[in-house]
Amino acid sequence: MVSKVKGTQDFLDLSLWNFIINKAKHHLGTYHFNEIATPIVEPTELFKRSLGVQTDVVSKEMFIIKSEKDDDALCLRPEATASTVRAFIENGIQYTPWKVFSYGPMFRYERPQKGRYRQFHQLNIENIGAGSLMHDVQMLTMLDRLFTEHLNLNNYVLLINFLGCFEDRKAYRVVLKEFLTHVVADLCATCEHRKDNNVMRVFDCKNQTCQTIYKKAPFIADHLCDGCDNEWQELQKNLKLLSVSFVYEPKLVRGLDYYNKTVFEFVSQDLGAQNSFCGGGRYDQLVKQLGGKKDQPSLGAAIGLERLMLLLQAQQDSLPLEQQPALHVIMPLSEKQQTVALLLADELHAQNLCTEVLLEGNSVKSMMRTANKLGATYALLIGDDEQQNNEVTLRHMTNSTEQRIKQTEVVAHVKR
Ligand code: HAM
Repeated sequence: MVSKVKGTQDFLDLSLWNFIINKAKHHLGTYHFNEIATPIVEPTELFKRSLGVQTDVVSKEMFIIKSEKDDDALCLRPEATASTVRAFIENGIQYTPWKVFSYGPMFRYERPQKGRYRQFHQLNIENIGAGSLMHDVQMLTMLDRLFTEHLNLNNYVLLINFLGCFEDRKAYRVVLKEFLTHVVADLCATCEHRKDNNVMRVFDCKNQTCQTIYKKAPFIADHLCDGCDNEWQELQKNLKLLSVSFVYEPKLVRGLDYYNKTVFEFVSQDLGAQNSFCGGGRYDQLVKQLGGKKDQPSLGAAIGLERLMLLLQAQQDSLPLEQQPALHVIMPLSEKQQTVALLLADELHAQNLCTEVLLEGNSVKSMMRTANKLGATYALLIGDDEQQNNEVTLRHMTNSTEQRIKQTEVVAHVKR
């Protein structure tokens, strides 16, 4: 047997998936976000230039596709923000804010564990050319409403932080480095490396000793310029006014380089170690950085669909998932009745009635067992006698009653 690739999954029942997608699409539609789709294959350069070469995603986790021209020219996308920004620039979108969403598979070569896969799926939402801080407030309100009101989630927390502007971070990095220099002897090797390469990422460390040290670290939100500090206060004030609960998490820095100002994650303790099921923030420089003519302050978020499904699986029975339509199973009792069975099925299909014909030539008993297993509402038996009289034996599978009816009456009967 050839097995699936490590870190990938087969989805054999998409009812929960479809429920989430349909709810999200409808909800995003009411906030006037339009659906788009971008390729799964992108130039590797796109992610090097946007996420940053020092990030884990780019330096360790890329699925590079070997091509004839260049060994690492193409890759499977690890996320969708850079692709959406590329699409915005490449298609010459002239109006802003450009409010779009897309969903599909992403690829990161991570060590698989619960909630962490190498092929996973995101629902990605971007608002490009959205300078006002009120867009941040609305994005967070929109996500919070989606999770609580439409998906009935309650056991989660919204964490937020404010990373300031470019100058704020430049000055803050010096302050943080200074702090780390005094405690470097007690830091793990990863943090020691990050201190010199991507200093704010030290806060992502899972090591308990490092985390205890960082309780006393200087935090970016206390080192903001007046303008940014004002925005940070306004953000919190407006979230409260809109009844969006949040927790300030000073160590939330996010793993991708393009962020500034607002960053956030929706986390749930029900998920275990991989507890974030939605993450995002502002990226005011990215459009220009990727070749756009001018800066387009923007923001977005991505929902990890596998993690959201893990959360919802626990309460799946209480969700109004789409019901399977009633199934009718036609049973030709011998090969001679197969054509008439198909003709009858054709009539039912034309009326949008879900119908299965059992064509394997099994005994009535075994066909009944199959119909039961499939959860059929009606079984429609056609033997020699039924065929000669243009009739079927209609068996109601739950109460086991049977009656002979004309084939022309079947549709009306099962529709009743
Ligand atoms: P991210 O935090 O890297 O952000 O990913 C967003 C979400 O995708 C995570 O919160 C998580 O639920 C899910 N996710 C990430 N990696 C995995 C994995 N290996 N297995 C399963 N789920 C995973 C971004 O990707 C940004 N592009 C979000 C964004 C949009 N920022 C602005 N716009």
